[in-house]
Amino acid sequence: MNISEKFWDKKAESYAKSPISDEETYKRKLTETQSLLNPTMRLLEFGCGTGTTAIHHAPHVLHIDAIDISENMLDIAREKASNANIENITFTHSTLTEFNADTASLDAVLGLNILHLLPERQSILTEVARILKPGGIFVSSTVCLGDSLFRFIKPIVPLGKLLGIMPDVYVLRKSELVSEVQNAGFAIERQWYHGMKGMVVFMIARKL
Ligand SMILES: C[S@@+](CC[C@H](N)C(=O)[O-])C[C@H]1O[C@@H](n2cnc3c(N)ncnc32)[C@H](O)[C@@H]1O
Repeated sequence: MNISEKFWDKKAESYAKSPISDEETYKRKLTETQSLLNPTMRLLEFGCGTGTTAIHHAPHVLHIDAIDISENMLDIAREKASNANIENITFTHSTLTEFNADTASLDAVLGLNILHLLPERQSILTEVARILKPGGIFVSSTVCLGDSLFRFIKPIVPLGKLLGIMPDVYVLRKSELVSEVQNAGFAIERQWYHGMKGMVVFMIARKL
């Protein structure tokens, strides 16, 4: 088990119990995503956490593969889905690369609060583009610390990780995120910011 997996496994219970920090913004994200979904669609969510978003969208699509590296997060997600009588989500312990979905097999991919936690962001975005059908959508929400004073956390991340009090966090600027998404072969259709100093970028991008 790697250090990130350990961190998120330990965090799972408190993550599940903590209330959504900005209910109105979360609902806006759900509504904007849902407006693009239909009952024939196959989705994949990577870094699904405790499954709240996948469970919300499940009644509006054919099937969702929801993957995460934390078995504890997945256990909670499976229980929540079962309590909600949701049967069209398959929860799998996996990274996106390991999951290796078929090329052009998906209508939408969700990556919410995850891209800033991954070291290999550009190759992940390329993988998202590979597995989406042409015209498929990629919905993401990403913390961009690089344009704020929070960029100075960069040197303390390795120590925080070692002490088990911080996850892997990568400092990126909004402009870097935009370029990386475009370089992977997407057109950005919608983009807005929220959170402290507008550091969180919600984005809807379409595979060209
Ligand atoms: C900040 S939480 C976000 C959870 C959920 N997407 C949400 O918005 O509430 C990050 C999640 O990503 C998972 N994660 C971290 N690195 C991952 C990776 N390389 N592949 C898949 N999941 C990962 C963690 O286990 C955790 O559940």
